[in-house]
Amino acid sequence: MENRIFQIRDGILLQHPFLLLFIVILSLIIMDPFQISPVGGRDFRPVKNDIAPYDKVMESWPRDELNRLGKGSLEFKDEVFGPESLEFDTFGRGPYAGLADGRIVRWMGEDVGWETYALVSRNWSEKQCAKGVDSTTSKQWESESKCGRPLGLRFDKRNGNLYIADSYHGLLVVEPQGGIIAKPLATHVDGNPILFANDLDIHNNGSIFFTDTSQKYNRVEHFFILLEGEASGRLLRYDPPTETTHVLLEGLAFPNGVQLSKDQSFLLFTETTNCRIMKYYLEGPKTGTTELVANLPGFPDNIRINENGDFWVAIDCCRTRAQEVFVHNPWLRSVYFRLPLPMRYLARLAGMKMYTLVSLFNEKGEILDVLEDRKGEVMKLVSEVREVNGKLWIGTVAHNHIAVVPYPLQSNLNIEK
Ligand SMILES: *[C@@H]1O[C@H](CO)[C@@H](O)[C@H](O)[C@H]1NC(C)=O
Ligand SMILES: *[C@@H]1O[C@H](CO)[C@@H](O)[C@H](O)[C@H]1NC(C)=O
Repeated sequence: MENRIFQIRDGILLQHPFLLLFIVILSLIIMDPFQISPVGGRDFRPVKNDIAPYDKVMESWPRDELNRLGKGSLEFKDEVFGPESLEFDTFGRGPYAGLADGRIVRWMGEDVGWETYALVSRNWSEKQCAKGVDSTTSKQWESESKCGRPLGLRFDKRNGNLYIADSYHGLLVVEPQGGIIAKPLATHVDGNPILFANDLDIHNNGSIFFTDTSQKYNRVEHFFILLEGEASGRLLRYDPPTETTHVLLEGLAFPNGVQLSKDQSFLLFTETTNCRIMKYYLEGPKTGTTELVANLPGFPDNIRINENGDFWVAIDCCRTRAQEVFVHNPWLRSVYFRLPLPMRYLARLAGMKMYTLVSLFNEKGEILDVLEDRKGEVMKLVSEVREVNGKLWIGTVAHNHIAVVPYPLQSNLNIEK
């Protein structure tokens, strides 16, 4: 019986050579034996992820018709390389920034300029790591794990310690008189390496909450986390008194920025793949549970509190209808991203053209302000917004400058409360 079916099938295929050719080509694409597609040689297994419906989110999202982010200026052009996170110390000095070449630098004013404040790796060398403007390109990828890639930065205002989440070296600290090489605090949890530390915040009691973005892909491969929808990210806590690290949440889809609330009763974290902000309770009856705070029109990165206790979120905008189709059909991603074309063409064809949006939320997740740069003139791939002394300081993981926007700017938004 089985044999007969095969005979019939062979017969059909031989009589229809185009069908045969089509099947051969499709199988070649799916199996990608020569590993020429963007996912070639990887264990690429797309899954569905938990994202809010496109129409529901996009229809209710307020627009900034004045494109007010376009009023900003680009500072320190080609002097800083991919300054993902920006920080100021207890004396108001700064900004400090973690760079793509592995250094943490600080701005010391016009006369001195930028100076190296810390390194995350003993193995850092000027020759291999300091590639200047090239460090935000693929030329850095090979040496990135050796040189380090500091992402989240936070000063502990009580003692002047600078805590660093580095994509390859976990959680580290530089004490005020601690020398230039940062001290590793957490490189493993439960015996497994922390593959992709991303951002952190410090509780008043000294504990440090930080994200480990994926247990499957590292920073250079971060685009595959989005494409695959895989959810192996975690929220972790490091306790200085016991020098121990704990897993608080697992199964997160690209957990990224972390920010404690003003009263420390909860923290917010962004889940980049799912385009949303989540809340994690630290006190009260809901302790240890999570809740949705806001669905976003694009892919969020870091989240930072201002003096009022409201939250700035940097968002790479926007979600598209094409993405919606991909999200709900993992098999389609499986085939599409195995096409033998460079990723940038595939991404562009899928409608992923990015511009910048930053948004201010209150504790309940209500939108207080939205600033856009729809033409992508001022900044692309924003990673963090810090509101300090009447200005927004905006970091970027992929470009060589810091954007500065005076704030508050006059608002034209009509936000319904
Ligand atoms: C430095 O390099 C050595 C040898 O390759 C390696 O064992 C060690 O883990 C590296 N240290 C850091 C901080 O990357
Ligand atoms: C700090 O507070 C958090 C939240 O209540 C708690 O989980 C953590 O264990 C505390 N850390 C220390 C060192 O007491």
